[in-house]
Amino acid sequence: MQLYKLGLLVSSLVAYVGANSTFTPARPPAVPLAVKSPYLSTWLDAGSDGGDGGYLAGEWPTFWENQVTGWCGLIRVDGVAYTWMGLPGTTTVNQTALEYTSTKSIFTMNVAGAVEMNITFMSPITPNDLKRQSLVFSYLNVEVNSLDGKEHDVQVYADISAEWVSGDRSTIAQWDYGTTDDIAYHKVYRQTQLAFSEVNQQGEWGCWYWATDSNGKMTRQSGQDTVVRGQFSSNGTLTNGVDTNYRAIQDDWPVFAFASNLGSVSSTPVSTLFSLGLTQDEAVQYEGSSAYAPVQSLWKAYFDTELEALSFFHKDYSTSSSLASDFDSQVAKDSVALGGNDYLALTSLAARQAIGATQLCGTEDNMYLFLKEISSDGNLNTVDVMFPVYPFFIYTNPELLKLVMEPLYENQLAGKYPNAWAMHDMGSNYPNATGHSDGNDEKMPLEECGNMVIMTLAYAMKSKDTDYLTQRYSLLTQWTEYLIEDALYPANQISTDDFAGSLANQTNLALKGMIGIQAMAVIANQTGNTADAANYSSIAHSYITKWQDLAINKDASPPHTTLNYGNASSHGLLYNLYADAQLGLGLVPDSVYQMQSDFYPTVVNKYGVPLDTRHTETKADWESWSAAIASTDTRNMFFEHLATWINETPTNKAFTDLYDTVTGNYPSTLFFARPVVGGTFAPLLVTQ
Ligand SMILES: *[C@@H]1O[C@H](CO)[C@@H](O)[C@H](O)[C@H]1NC(C)=O
Ligand SMILES: *[C@@H]1O[C@H](CO)[C@@H](O)[C@H](O)[C@H]1NC(C)=O
Ligand SMILES: *[C@@H]1O[C@H](CO)[C@@H](O)[C@H](O)[C@H]1NC(C)=O
Ligand SMILES: *[C@@H]1O[C@H](CO)[C@@H](O)[C@H](O)[C@H]1NC(C)=O
Ligand SMILES: *[C@@H]1O[C@H](CO)[C@@H](O)[C@H](O)[C@H]1NC(C)=O
Ligand SMILES: *[C@@H]1O[C@H](CO)[C@@H](O)[C@H](O)[C@H]1NC(C)=O
Ligand SMILES: *[C@@H]1O[C@H](CO)[C@@H](O)[C@H](O)[C@H]1NC(C)=O
Ligand SMILES: *[C@@H]1O[C@H](CO)[C@@H](O)[C@H](O)[C@H]1NC(C)=O
Ligand SMILES: *[C@@H]1O[C@H](CO)[C@@H](O)[C@H](O)[C@H]1NC(C)=O
Repeated sequence: MQLYKLGLLVSSLVAYVGANSTFTPARPPAVPLAVKSPYLSTWLDAGSDGGDGGYLAGEWPTFWENQVTGWCGLIRVDGVAYTWMGLPGTTTVNQTALEYTSTKSIFTMNVAGAVEMNITFMSPITPNDLKRQSLVFSYLNVEVNSLDGKEHDVQVYADISAEWVSGDRSTIAQWDYGTTDDIAYHKVYRQTQLAFSEVNQQGEWGCWYWATDSNGKMTRQSGQDTVVRGQFSSNGTLTNGVDTNYRAIQDDWPVFAFASNLGSVSSTPVSTLFSLGLTQDEAVQYEGSSAYAPVQSLWKAYFDTELEALSFFHKDYSTSSSLASDFDSQVAKDSVALGGNDYLALTSLAARQAIGATQLCGTEDNMYLFLKEISSDGNLNTVDVMFPVYPFFIYTNPELLKLVMEPLYENQLAGKYPNAWAMHDMGSNYPNATGHSDGNDEKMPLEECGNMVIMTLAYAMKSKDTDYLTQRYSLLTQWTEYLIEDALYPANQISTDDFAGSLANQTNLALKGMIGIQAMAVIANQTGNTADAANYSSIAHSYITKWQDLAINKDASPPHTTLNYGNASSHGLLYNLYADAQLGLGLVPDSVYQMQSDFYPTVVNKYGVPLDTRHTETKADWESWSAAIASTDTRNMFFEHLATWINETPTNKAFTDLYDTVTGNYPSTLFFARPVVGGTFAPLLVTQ
């Protein structure tokens, strides 16, 4: 992977380990380490507010919600032990670089001037290969070579603690050791399985596998953290012992370790590969067209056993790395071409986070993509959370957009939702996709009807699947009727930005409704309902003409749309305009695009353009949507401010989408690790 020379090479001000690391393409608030699903989601705090600012050694990795997921790395060079990950107590190595790509976080370490380590955390993204994508596993590859021309005696160590198996540290863990296909593995799990349950957002069921190559260099051990790490530090090998005193996670902290004796290491790199992942036979409970029931994880459709899945994953490293590099290169090439390194800093940070909120389920013939609304409230397949991510799905594989809409369609086509508008989400608590047969879901009628119609057309245009539209035509018509009723003068209601409060006559929400009606005109046309098409199109056009009078402050200098009709002192990001461009509808005149593009630079703060005049906070996803349809200069302005925020924010959790444009801090304690950062891919789909 090529390094982008224009990169923001940020030197940490924390003189923590005696040397400074470079950060390419940026120093993010948190570095993704193993990020593949709602429960395999471990990060390194890299924010500037304390912690050690993005150094792998000296701080414990954490689950997105912030609790430690113990993961420790040690290296012994010529008989002296050092820490390269975590905080077990030994001297830390010196980190010289961190580079992240869409699938990898790569740390370079200097150990006493004697050896160099390249430590690669890779969470594969294979959007067009759902067999590979279905595996909830991540790689850690540790490469070592001599730096000073001499040979050095080297052993590498890594362990996980039982903290991965439950969010409650008093929970009893159980474990086992075994080998399969020349792979050595520790299997760790909650002794009492609590299917479909969470504690502190961690999953309480399934088995965790931590594996490496079983060969003559490998030793292993389970036992108390200090004992096992101490054994390696003093000896360089482990005892091969298994501690069978199954106990609480926090009771003498059991850890599960591997050591690899690399022997004499020269300038030729030697590597040790580890795999870490979660197997759950059933991942979600779901009420589709049939009764509420568990749904199997998709990997079960390809593998008979957990060990087969583990073996496939571990032995797939070379293919998987090359697929990951292809994906990284594609995102990098497209991002740099459009918005340079600033833009790459956003997309490459967002990719794992976006896909990492999802879980593939079902069978090869009947698949679903479930998505967790991480951090804001844990709903499943929330329509207005899928909506900002839809450009990421279209960019990577439009089929994923279909799969994430599928549960909502099955449930509503089966008549299980009583309201006339589109349902807000598939269930209040991931992983329970209960639907809302009582109709008491969060009420965002205009928002979700518009979103469903727009996303449905976006998918169908890419897949050229007219049958898909025909099968859903009557439900889409029902939702469009709601848009026709409410879009011109939207009732007092919340939009997706519900944290900002409810408001009547919201300009941006009205626009979404109108774009939805025009999208339905195209759907009608494509399905042979030409009379409907003409009618919807004429309604949408008449609305958009009126909307321009109601929503634009023509007297302002420069003119711009208002937050709500007739409120001359207000403004906001008109991000819903994006769908008009992405779908090629041509509903909204170019003059509106130009006007907003000229306006945004006049209201930009240090870290970006505020979402609207009610607060100084903004949304990274909606800034990206607004950037997508702006002039080149305004687009680059958005990217530059977003990249500055990424580098400087004092926040230290996974890429928050809601932040303050003046301080760079959180306005809320929520809104991190959310999939909506997939919205940063929006500009890649439109060429203005
Ligand atoms: C690390 O960076 C700080 C701030 O730029 C600088 O003062 C310090 O000398 C650097 N330390 C090393 C070892 O380069
Ligand atoms: C880290 O760098 C500092 C400053 O150059 C040096 O004193 C120290 O020995 C280094 N530590 C290791 C483990 O390489
Ligand atoms: C580590 O990565 C750097 C930069 O990609 C490379 O120059 C170096 O050879 C790598 N070292 C090892 C041990 O792989
Ligand atoms: C999901 O439903 C099960 C009962 O089927 C319950 O035990 C579990 O706590 C629920 N999960 C969440 C996250 O609410
Ligand atoms: C390391 O452990 C092995 C196996 O227990 C033992 O045979 C050896 O003597 C130990 N070496 C040292 C230096 O402690
Ligand atoms: C919405 O705007 C229209 C036109 O300005 C106005 O007549 C109506 O009262 C507004 N609705 C609400 C609920 O404020
Ligand atoms: C419907 O399709 C016809 C023929 O392709 C086209 O002329 C017309 O503009 C389309 N109408 C809409 C609303 O898309
Ligand atoms: C157009 O659609 C509106 C709203 O559904 C409906 O009331 C009207 O009858 C339709 N007009 C025609 C000509 O189909
Ligand atoms: C107009 O917008 C401002 C700023 O967003 C807001 O404080 C005020 O309440 C709005 N006034 C009305 C009548 O909606």
